[in-house]
Amino acid sequence: MESTSYRTHGCGQLRPEHIGAEVRIVGWVRRVRDLGRFVFVDVRDRSGILQLVALEGTPMYQVLRELGREWVIQASGVVRRRESPNPDLPTGEVEVEVKHIEILNRSQVPPFLIEDETDGQEELRLRYRYLDLRRPIQQRRLELRAEVIRVCREYLRSRGFLEVETPMLIRSTPEGARDFLVPSRLKPGTFYALPQSPQLLKQLLMVAGYDRYFQVARCFRDEDYRGDRQAEFTQLDCEMSFVTQEDVLSVFEGLVKEVFRTIKGIELEDFPRLTYAEAMQRYGSDKPDLRYSLSWEEVTQWAQKQGVPFWQGRRTFWLWVPQVKASRKQQDKWQALAKENGAETVAFIQQEKGQRSSSLAKYLSLDSIEMPGDGLGIWVTTEKLAALGAVRQAVIQDLALPPEKPWAMAWIVEFPLFEEGEDGRLSAAHHPFVHPHPADVERIETDPLTVRALAYDLVINGNEIMSGSIRCHTPELQMRIFRALGLSEEEARQKFGFLLEALSYGAPPHGGCAFGIDRWVMLLAGARSLREVIAFPKTASGSDLMLGAPAPIDPEQYAELLRWLSPKST
Ligand code: AMO
Repeated sequence: MESTSYRTHGCGQLRPEHIGAEVRIVGWVRRVRDLGRFVFVDVRDRSGILQLVALEGTPMYQVLRELGREWVIQASGVVRRRESPNPDLPTGEVEVEVKHIEILNRSQVPPFLIEDETDGQEELRLRYRYLDLRRPIQQRRLELRAEVIRVCREYLRSRGFLEVETPMLIRSTPEGARDFLVPSRLKPGTFYALPQSPQLLKQLLMVAGYDRYFQVARCFRDEDYRGDRQAEFTQLDCEMSFVTQEDVLSVFEGLVKEVFRTIKGIELEDFPRLTYAEAMQRYGSDKPDLRYSLSWEEVTQWAQKQGVPFWQGRRTFWLWVPQVKASRKQQDKWQALAKENGAETVAFIQQEKGQRSSSLAKYLSLDSIEMPGDGLGIWVTTEKLAALGAVRQAVIQDLALPPEKPWAMAWIVEFPLFEEGEDGRLSAAHHPFVHPHPADVERIETDPLTVRALAYDLVINGNEIMSGSIRCHTPELQMRIFRALGLSEEEARQKFGFLLEALSYGAPPHGGCAFGIDRWVMLLAGARSLREVIAFPKTASGSDLMLGAPAPIDPEQYAELLRWLSPKST
């Protein structure tokens, strides 16, 4: 080779201004097309796709014809104008007439098409993830992810946030999931926990006076995988001192707007706010998808005055879906769904071309019902508001209602501080370090389930993208919360002694939040699952199909592990 560098340009960089230039490119053979008089080869690298050409009778003609898919080649030649341009490619006006080819490596025939539209099933693609990641659409997704993180970093750094790393081998932090545990070799019988989040460490950084912290933090939760959950995921974790809830919301609303502005070119309007109580009452969910304006209205008072026997004494809600007709099958499905989610009764009224019909015709004068036109009305009686959310979501999905806008953000505020389990025991609705709403502090002991929290979630298109709160910063208040959660002084000291102690050394008022980076990037990328925006994700059963993890360990390692698990056997 006459030069030491592999290439002069990326495949995707060549444009008409390069016509006549001698270039050298490297990349993977995407496909070879033999048209008789010409042979064309599309070659791909991360910068894009480029067409190479050789004419019949030239020395390169045969070489190009014999290239295989995904071979790695270096090609030198001259850029020329394409006879038939391809408007779909940025390099579509040019091609390179090849003078020399170097085969850098051959490839087996890949098990699926390395194209945006691939024929590979997900399991196969995850098994050969390095080939899957070679698909341009995957490369764009990981680039988008890097870009989101870059914009966040710059935004936060320019506002005085300091990036600090916190350890991976820690003690359990209660975020509500099961811990991944790591046995200690040096102290048999004891364990590290992998962080479910850096929650306590970031609070300790506030005690240490760092004022504004952030971290792109890996979190580990041994919970069941779902479409929007992975056991190992990434948070943009943030904390600030001397802030009110208002300060935190304003900084992070600004961050989200900055990401949309820079990455999508979209100027977002100010985000609406809903209290948890309003969100539940109107949408039956604490993460409502507000791209759809459909909302429930409580009509209990009106319902009590009607002659419907099963409405008596029950909370009744009404949902109006304009201009649609639902089949009997759909209605049955929604009815079953509502009941599965705790609703007592479901009834429908349909208006079509001005004609009304309803199963309640024998109890109600249908003409007296207020309906703005043709469409479907649904009544549900329920104490469990989640039933309303389940029906709303199913109606939107089953009727394939078109979203009224592409993006809908909402802050949900005033979450409850506690929730009650089946066994009647209180638990923290989010985590035990959340500051109660100042107006409700006095009810912590007397009426805990009515205590609101200084906690907030950011919802984008029905997905919880971030969550945070103002924290308890005095040991007294923190201890009251622990006590309400049923921890004795001694248990609290044993589990959270370091926190209570730190709070007693001049902890500043503080609060913060964490974004789910994977979820956010998934939405921005228009991807369907978190796996599509994580380089090496795990399947629904927690496996890495490429590495073959989790895997058995060799017998010696296992025997050693057993010794570490129990302190007595050492
Ligand atoms: P939380 O547990 O709500 O809060 O997590 C914050 C955000 O992280 C994302 N997230 C997940 N993403 C993918 N897979 C998962 N298993 C998963 N679990 C959570 C969500 C969520 O909104 N320490 C607190 C934050 C704080 O109070 O500052 C915390 O971790 O988008």
